[in-house]
Amino acid sequence: MNKLYLDNAATSYPKAPKVSEKMCEYINKVGSNVSRGIYSSSKNAGQVVYKTREMLCDLFNFDEPLNVVFTKNITESLNTIIKGYLKDGDHVIVSSMEHNAVMRPLMGLKGIEIDRVPCDSLGKLNPNDIEKYIKPNTKLLVMIHASNVCGTIIDAEAVGKICKKHNIKFVLDTAQTSGILPVDFKKYNLSALCFTGHKGLLGPQGIGGFLINSEFAKEIKPLIEGGTGSLSESELQPGYLPDKFEAGTLNIPGIYGLNASLKYIKDKGIENIKAIEDDLTKRFLDNINNMDDAVLYGINGTEGRTAVISLDFPKLDNSEVAFVLDRDFGIMTRVGLHCAPSAHKTLGSYPKGTVRFSPGHFLTVKDIDYACQCIYKTLKLLKSE
Ligand SMILES: Cc1ncc(COP(=O)(O)O)c(C=O)c1O
Repeated sequence: MNKLYLDNAATSYPKAPKVSEKMCEYINKVGSNVSRGIYSSSKNAGQVVYKTREMLCDLFNFDEPLNVVFTKNITESLNTIIKGYLKDGDHVIVSSMEHNAVMRPLMGLKGIEIDRVPCDSLGKLNPNDIEKYIKPNTKLLVMIHASNVCGTIIDAEAVGKICKKHNIKFVLDTAQTSGILPVDFKKYNLSALCFTGHKGLLGPQGIGGFLINSEFAKEIKPLIEGGTGSLSESELQPGYLPDKFEAGTLNIPGIYGLNASLKYIKDKGIENIKAIEDDLTKRFLDNINNMDDAVLYGINGTEGRTAVISLDFPKLDNSEVAFVLDRDFGIMTRVGLHCAPSAHKTLGSYPKGTVRFSPGHFLTVKDIDYACQCIYKTLKLLKSE
């Protein structure tokens, strides 16, 4: 049976060419830690790590490679910033479409106030609504760049202008957009940009990070402290970047893998990746529009969205649909609430959730036609049972 992977919003597959080779190169031929040895292989590994910071600057239009911090994923990046920055009495603004990677660290903090700016039933945010929620104690706006449930993109440039006008720090969750859309640190007036390596960036799991401006970094307490290979005479965490936030040995194989995937993305071009994903989305939506028993959540078109498509099958159990798609046709999807209950409440798909189809740009429109035929056959089969 053919296998068709439609769960790139969870993690991308396949990875970019050369990712595994580059990771093997490190493990088999280099192997040294960085910032902790004066021998040449340690220096070489250090150069790859630094080069990868530069590549991330290039991708996100940012000037300071040393202000690129590696973590294990975007969840750790968001936790570091949210928990390290906010204090008792601070107010924070989010959208109603956030992932639990933002909501859980916020909800876990005692003594802060949270306001959710409501998005409409397509997941769209009107940036002008944000001003209604700003208060004298508003310190932070943290927001998803595109929904992991339905793909709707927020206008980060417009949000950034409002944050600048009111002197509020703006942190962007780019889990669903980095490597998929142009993401611009300067144009969006970001204070920090959080990314994860294993989704649209096409790298391995276990590597993520954040880019942060120096003034903002000074106001954040590190989440973890420990050895950095620098300032060893001191028992206090260094205050400079990236060491302040990079205690312990880095995921160097992960960084090598990310280095290869960033090179692939640069050579391929984000615009070309987006154009392919738009074609796949259009084809999927065209097929679905003719299907009586499927309800689309999110925008019915390619404008203002990514290739993350959520469907509900009102007369059926969505888990059964996803199960049969995999069992009988090898189609891999994700079902449920996708770690974003607030987004489903906004879209009207709570508590049932949806079946999420998220193709990657390595697929073709033929694959999409096949997937849609299989959805059709699955519905027929389940309705006849
Ligand atoms: C919008 C969004 N934010 C955060 C995350 C968390 O990503 P990770 O598990 O890589 O930390 C995800 C992925 O599930 C996501 O889609």
